[in-house]
Amino acid sequence: MHLIDSLVGLRSVRFFKQKEIPEDVLKTILEAGRHAPSRRNIQPWHFVVVSNPETRKKLAKGKAKFIEDSALVIVGCGDPEESRRWCELEVAIAMQTMVIAAWVQGIGSCWVDIENTEEQVKDVLGIPKKLEVVALVAFGYPARAKTPKPSWKKTLDQTIHYDKF
Ligand SMILES: Cc1cc2nc3c(=O)[nH]c(=O)nc-3n(C[C@H](O)[C@H](O)[C@H](O)COP(=O)(O)O)c2cc1C
Repeated sequence: MHLIDSLVGLRSVRFFKQKEIPEDVLKTILEAGRHAPSRRNIQPWHFVVVSNPETRKKLAKGKAKFIEDSALVIVGCGDPEESRRWCELEVAIAMQTMVIAAWVQGIGSCWVDIENTEEQVKDVLGIPKKLEVVALVAFGYPARAKTPKPSWKKTLDQTIHYDKF
């Protein structure tokens, strides 16, 4: 499939097959993220890949059930000591790059809201205090053959401004 079609068709996936993501495929996803852009190329990020079911169950507590059903979760952390202003944004760019790299290989994913649960995530994964937990994304092979219906999106007219706002 052409990359543009893949990007326009990219949807959040919340139902996963009980199927592991092969190590070499996971590596391609992580490599894609590693090559994301970064201001002054500081790369103020760390990523924790969680495939252990017990650990994912602990992470899912109080959050989305699909974390448990996924094949693995990637937790993106920013280091404010390396880049206070940009670490959050840059972790998000790297994570979305992984989402796309997964999608073009037939793997779905869904971001998870971690607001108010950052400390819980840090405790479960032993993430150092000084890091900021920015994002948690669950990955897995979609359980449903068809991709989810198109989600509502604002139109270009509503959001794009040419030359002047
Ligand atoms: C930062 C962020 C947090 C999100 N948190 C959740 C979440 O906690 N649970 C969930 O089901 N979807 C979550 N989503 C997915 C959005 O609901 C989804 O992207 C949006 O509804 C548009 O649907 P689409 O991705 O299929 O186009 C999150 C997305 C982002 C970017």
